[in-house]
Amino acid sequence: MAGLVMEKKGKVVFFVLLIAMFQGCSSAPRRIGSSAVFRVHGNVYPKGSYYVSLDVGQPPRQYYFDIDTGSDLTWLQCDYPCISCTETAHPLYEPPKKNEVFQNDTLCIAAFNTPEDHESETPDEPCGYEVSYTDQGSSRGVLVRDVFPIRFTDGSLLRPILAFGCGFEQRVSDATPRCTDGVLGLSKAKSSILSQLHDQGLTKNVIAHCFSRRGGGYMFFGDYFVPSSGVIWTRMSRNSFVQYSPGPTELIFGGQPSGVRGLVVAFDTGSSYTYFNSEAYQAFISWVKKDLVGKPLMEAPDDKTLTVCFRGTKPFESIHDAKKYFNPIALSFTNDRRTQMEIPPEAYLIISKHGNVCLGILNGTQVGLEKLNLIGDISFQDKLVIYDNEKQKIGWIPTDCRSPSIVDHDDNEGFSRPYAARMGVVTESYPATSTSREDKFE
Ligand SMILES: *[C@@H]1O[C@H](CO)[C@@H](O)[C@H](O)[C@H]1NC(C)=O
Ligand SMILES: *[C@@H]1O[C@H](CO)[C@@H](O)[C@H](O)[C@H]1NC(C)=O
Repeated sequence: MAGLVMEKKGKVVFFVLLIAMFQGCSSAPRRIGSSAVFRVHGNVYPKGSYYVSLDVGQPPRQYYFDIDTGSDLTWLQCDYPCISCTETAHPLYEPPKKNEVFQNDTLCIAAFNTPEDHESETPDEPCGYEVSYTDQGSSRGVLVRDVFPIRFTDGSLLRPILAFGCGFEQRVSDATPRCTDGVLGLSKAKSSILSQLHDQGLTKNVIAHCFSRRGGGYMFFGDYFVPSSGVIWTRMSRNSFVQYSPGPTELIFGGQPSGVRGLVVAFDTGSSYTYFNSEAYQAFISWVKKDLVGKPLMEAPDDKTLTVCFRGTKPFESIHDAKKYFNPIALSFTNDRRTQMEIPPEAYLIISKHGNVCLGILNGTQVGLEKLNLIGDISFQDKLVIYDNEKQKIGWIPTDCRSPSIVDHDDNEGFSRPYAARMGVVTESYPATSTSREDKFE
């Protein structure tokens, strides 16, 4: 879900003054170089998203966050009270009293990237936000601060206080099934959770996700688990319209240039499927169909799982039975020595409940994306994808996403060795059900 519109409500004041205050608060010891790993749940189909379980609050409660590299703001559906909330996996988040972020707060200013616009008649009003996603979903609410207990790879459990959205009015598009409590916005804006952790000296401004085809996977903050070799890197585009973009992209079909080039592409884990613009989509569909001539696959227009599905001579049990009829495609990033990201058939196909094979690359123009192309979860499966905001590059490496590997890591930072077993540990050590809701309002 690329976040398209984000408006602030009201204006903001005392910018300079607050900078001073903000620095005073972040006197935590410098621990840049430390990392935190989180277990990921979910799948492309049928769940429709990969999500991470994080604890929030004191005492901590568990929430599921949709992992979204296409937007900045992290938010939870919230009992402020809630005007319009959709079904959640856990009871609604209840912000502790006095935890609101006011409009005179640097985080409020940073969230809306308006440093020049720091005059406000209402500095003591809560910092309101509204974010709209390309899939027509949206969230409206106020920014609040709360504790996010996080286990770092050096073994320490820290409780940074982070600002995020308490969303009391949500619209979710019918197309997206939800099993989560909110969104974890991972793009590079100053207001993102990752930037806040970085500003508090807790981790480098690096994130990575690894979504397994079998479901689940892991995600990490910081660079400790970035493999020292084998990663293919490309420069991040500085085009600010799209969040994480490798720059102009050319499509390669079955090893041959397709003639479709200059595509504006965003890496967007908030999208389950990959979307090509009308021209690229047309070229892709024609190539797939041409390739299937003479093969025992028939179009299955009655299967509405996705736009284009094919039936085999008997129902497919798994992607392995179907992938032999399809060829890999690749994205070639023309800005950077034509670095290529290969997308094998398994990373653009699903097997529907009816046993047909369906194309997980969809027509973005049809859903209003216009020229924008989104590379979604389906195409990131079985790859570790790294977004290094410090060095302004994006990297990827094929892997099974079982657990982060630290092979070959030169351990020169003086941290004790991490242990995959501690992954997601915070949730496990604080069962969300062990505390009563009243504790919050002490
Ligand atoms: C921001 O506004 C709140 C509410 O009026 C006030 O308590 C707080 O001190 C203000 N902060 C600064 C730095 O002015
Ligand atoms: C993609 O969507 C656009 C807009 O709805 C439509 O004009 C175009 O024909 C579609 N392309 C294909 C190949 O279906």
